[in-house]
Order: sequence, then structure tokens, then C-alpha cells
Amino acid sequence: MKATRLISIDDLDAEDLALVLDTAEVMDEISARRIKKVPTLRGRTVCNLFLEDSTRTRLSFDIAAKRLSADVMNFSAKGSSVSKGESFKDTALTLDAMGVDTVVVRSGSSGAPLQLSQYLDVPILNAGDGWHQHPTQALLDLYTMRSHFGHLAGLTVTICGDIIHSRVARSEIEALTLAGATVRLVAPDTLLPTDLSAWTDGGNVEVITDLDDALGDSDVLYLLRVQRERMHRAFFPSTREYHRLYGMDARRLAALPDHAIVMHPGPMNRGVEITPDVADSPRALITDQVNNGIAVRMACLYLLIAGSEVDA
Ligand code: CP
Repeated sequence: MKATRLISIDDLDAEDLALVLDTAEVMDEISARRIKKVPTLRGRTVCNLFLEDSTRTRLSFDIAAKRLSADVMNFSAKGSSVSKGESFKDTALTLDAMGVDTVVVRSGSSGAPLQLSQYLDVPILNAGDGWHQHPTQALLDLYTMRSHFGHLAGLTVTICGDIIHSRVARSEIEALTLAGATVRLVAPDTLLPTDLSAWTDGGNVEVITDLDDALGDSDVLYLLRVQRERMHRAFFPSTREYHRLYGMDARRLAALPDHAIVMHPGPMNRGVEITPDVADSPRALITDQVNNGIAVRMACLYLLIAGSEVDA
């Protein structure tokens, strides 16, 4: 792989993106074995630096590193000297002094992984930073779509919801367009960035105001969580109104083409952006996304730490 870090989808070109997805297929095969472990990263140390809450990303990076036999250091703000006020730089230099081979970082601050890369000379993997990027989420989503449809080029993916606050949306849009898919964004004006030209100028991203207009020819309906923790004012009149206009329910599921699937990065607000019956329907691949996160993160760790020859 040409990329030496994964801070943003921008770190990958189309060839690297395909290599990650192809390598994840090999990793999936390992995860299907009775003994789900290979010695590929034996003697290497992965530090999971999680300064913001996480369930899926944190656990899947942990299990991904262990399946590759790496030593794993799990680090969170609570219980560490960060809670005593130690600076980000001193935390980074402490990890460097311990000889880590890579750092996986989640932070509420956009730009924290890039800052970390200035202090450590090891591959940095962004596990989600502020509103900026969540590249491994996008990669596992693309892996899920490719596994289901057999290809990515030509798919129409409708991303609906709180786009302005979403690092997932930023990574997803960039990864999908890199892979040749068409992206549609559906959101209230207040939940869209004011300047969309960086996405729409390329011609593969369009904005649609009415969700019902986007359903009939979508291959994937990708719902985003309403991120209340990032909202310091009202962005829509009421949850009920939001659900009526932008929520995925049984009526809208029936309006999708028969082959279309529903995805959500989690955690979900059931009853807000998605009703429980849709979330639990066989057409929602939400638990597949979680499962695929392990293989994709194994692939990212492997390619960034050990190189590009798959010999698992
Ligand atoms: N999708 C995602 O990043 O979930 P977590 O916050 O649980 O890691």
C-alpha cells in the first residue's frame, strides 16, 4: 500500500482503497476459522488511544489487533494521566517512548490524529476525530456494500440525516466517489454544510431535499444518527417532525427497490432516524457492518504495519 497512515480518506487512492477491501476478504476468511488468529503482527504493539466514547470502533480495533497476534495497549482518558491534565503532546511522547508500532486514535477534536502524526514516526489510524473523518467506518461500509452487490462503481447511495455534524458522512462521500459510486445527500438545510461545492463540483454528489424523491432508485439508503451531543441549538422544530420528514420507516422501506439495502453506522436513535422494525429487518445490514469492521480493521492494521503482501 502506498499510504503510510490513515487519517483521512484522502490518504488513499483508488488502488489503495481496492487493496484494503481485497485484504479484508482474506481477513474475513481468517475470522471464519475455528482458531481466529494468525501470527502476522506477532511482536508488534498497537496502542488504541480512545479519548472519546466508542463501542464498535474500539472493540473491533482491539479484536482485529489480537487476531493478528499484536500486543495491544488500550488507553482511555479516564484512568490515565490525561484526566490529570497531561497534554496531548506529552501523552504522544510517552507512547513513543514505549515503542508502539502504531496508534489508533479517537478524539472529539478534529485534527487530533494529524497532530499525533507530528509527534510519532509510526502509522496513525484515525478512529474518528470530531466532525472531520472516520475513514475505517467508510471502508467497512464500502466493504459491506461490495460484499452485497459485488461492485461499488455505479451504485447510488443516498445518505440521509445529520450530515453537517457527521465525520462518517465526510469519509463516506469521499470513499464512495473514489470508488465510482454516485452519492445523494438528503437533509434539512440546517443539517447540511453551507458550502457543498467540494463534493458537488465533481458531479457524483447531488443534494435532494425530499427523502421520498430519493427512494425509488437508491441501491443503498444510509442513515445517519442525529448527533445531539454536537448540537448547541435547535436544528429542527421537533424530533417528531424530523422523523416524519427524514425517518426511515416501513412505508419508506417498501418504496425502495426490492434489491436495496439499509445501512447505519451506529449507534442508532431508534424511533428518530430509523424505526425499530426497519432496523431489525433483514434488509438492514447494520450488524453485518459491525462484523465487517473487524476484517477491515485487520486489513488496515496489517497493511500499515506489515506491508502489502498478504501471507496470512
Ligand atoms: N460507528 C461508530 O463509530 O460507532 P462507535 O462510536 O460505537 O465506535
